[in-house]
Amino acid sequence: MCGIIGYIGKKRAAPILFDSLKKLEYRGYDSVGIASINGDAEIEIKKGAGRIEAVNERMNFLSVNGSIGIGHTRWATHGGVEDKNAHPFLSCNGRFALVHNGILENYLELKEDLVKKGHTFTSDTDTEILVHLVEEEVKNNGEKDLVKIISDLTKIAKGAYTFLLLDAKDHIIYAFRKDSPIIIGIGEDELFASSDITSFLEHTNKVIILENNQLAVLKEKYTIYDTQTGKEVKQKITTIDWTTEQASKTGFPHFMLKEIFEEVEISKHSLEQDSLKLNGMIEVLSKAKKVFFLGSGTSFRACLLASIYFAKIAKKHFMPILGSEYKTYQNLVDKDTVIFAISQSGETADVLQGITLAKAKGARVVSLINVIGSTIMRESDQYLTLNSGPEIAVASTKAFISQVLILTLLAFGVADRLKEGREHLYEVVRKLESIMNQSDSIAMLSKDVLNKNDLYLIGRGVSFPIAMEGELKIKEIAYIHADALAGGELKHHTLALIEPGVTCIALVPNDDTKDDMINNIMQIKARGGEIIGISSEHLELFDHYIPIPKVHLEPLLMIPVLQLISYYLSVIRGNDPDFPRNLAKSVTVL
Ligand code: G6P
Repeated sequence: MCGIIGYIGKKRAAPILFDSLKKLEYRGYDSVGIASINGDAEIEIKKGAGRIEAVNERMNFLSVNGSIGIGHTRWATHGGVEDKNAHPFLSCNGRFALVHNGILENYLELKEDLVKKGHTFTSDTDTEILVHLVEEEVKNNGEKDLVKIISDLTKIAKGAYTFLLLDAKDHIIYAFRKDSPIIIGIGEDELFASSDITSFLEHTNKVIILENNQLAVLKEKYTIYDTQTGKEVKQKITTIDWTTEQASKTGFPHFMLKEIFEEVEISKHSLEQDSLKLNGMIEVLSKAKKVFFLGSGTSFRACLLASIYFAKIAKKHFMPILGSEYKTYQNLVDKDTVIFAISQSGETADVLQGITLAKAKGARVVSLINVIGSTIMRESDQYLTLNSGPEIAVASTKAFISQVLILTLLAFGVADRLKEGREHLYEVVRKLESIMNQSDSIAMLSKDVLNKNDLYLIGRGVSFPIAMEGELKIKEIAYIHADALAGGELKHHTLALIEPGVTCIALVPNDDTKDDMINNIMQIKARGGEIIGISSEHLELFDHYIPIPKVHLEPLLMIPVLQLISYYLSVIRGNDPDFPRNLAKSVTVL
């Protein structure tokens, strides 16, 4: 999704913006641009469709002068992926430039009005309206109070519009938040404003996370206003404990591989939850009449897995719901309901929409998030954090394992077996390294056996959502058609597709699903299918075998195996696993 960055300080803005934009790349984008006020108090803009490096070759971002500027990575919503639709946009008089994250709902009628008033538009975007609107209001209000003018925008523009406005006359950046995040970074003699902490983390870890409808005015110092009351507000400065090392590849070819390997360490941090918060969450879940898990993508797979463990371990029926399907279940939600939102980014629009609707019905909202200060965290009555550090690759890996570990711990907690749960989970964590040590053989197997156009994954019990997560990953970054199914479903449909040459990955943990899985494997083999077995036991039925250590919660060790398979398949096929086509890390649109 769109990423925004602003810089004001004593250094040249262009190289800082360029570096920050590279750090925003992971969010997913199709165009990029920067604007800076050069020595003559004129705004210079360089922008275009394409990847940052490619656009830079055409435009030479670094040639832009000035020590105050804004930048943007665009993920197209209104208007095609073309140079003219890349941000920033300039007002007719050249005084203002603007970058935006969000969607303006009434942009067509506003555009019509502005065209009548003589404004010329250069793009097909909704965003461009905003910069002309500010220009028009400044003209009508006799150049007065910009804070008031921007505050009044909420009465005119509808939708989500977090933006940065660069003012070449007064040398100010205005940062306004409406619905998607904006974080102010406070450095030595310099200020940043961005949709993402990691984009300026190498300069400062002191931040202010703006609330909705707050406006930060950045000059030598910063001032923050509540645009609803017009009053200045004091916001707390938070120190973020993420490190720049966590947000860089540190010798790994891709963020995704680095993040999979990081699971060995971060899993321990995930399990080290603050006991007050953990017990508080266990209490809420234990007492709740109804609990709905809410998540999207990989986080939804964690919801599914959690619902199975809560059933098995805690004898609780907690229902998993896809963020985008929340409305279907709205009738079931009331003041006795707990919505348990699971989200790495804490910004996923589908999940947020569900939260808003559920709150309106009096539901209690709790969450499990990775990004401190994220919208879902702030909308929650209670939350736990994943403690995974920044996750940069679009495909979620270390956050998924953290989600699964914490949710399983909660299931044990609700069953009043917290100590035992901890022991089982630490046993899993201690064995993660042995999976990473097999990465070379997993890479070979991926190349020699799994590089097919279709793959099937079968599992039962908790191994089923794990197979589903494997399917998601293989599709997401390897662009291979994959299909996960519960073993018992084979005979209802997919056996029709099994013939010699068809490859199935079978998840065979040493638990109560094992015997049934063996039956399913025999059904596949009887029709000529080939089996890659992931198990702690080398069964003769396997054509190829990926060993995992024998532990109590064995299926959890299959997670990194499938992540590594999808990673290597992606690389073998010449894809960039960190930036899957058409997908974004943080999906802030519905
Ligand atoms: C996007 C990402 C996925 C992620 C999903 C939910 O689709 O590409 O990796 O699983 O959003 O994100 P969340 O931040 O809510 O976990």
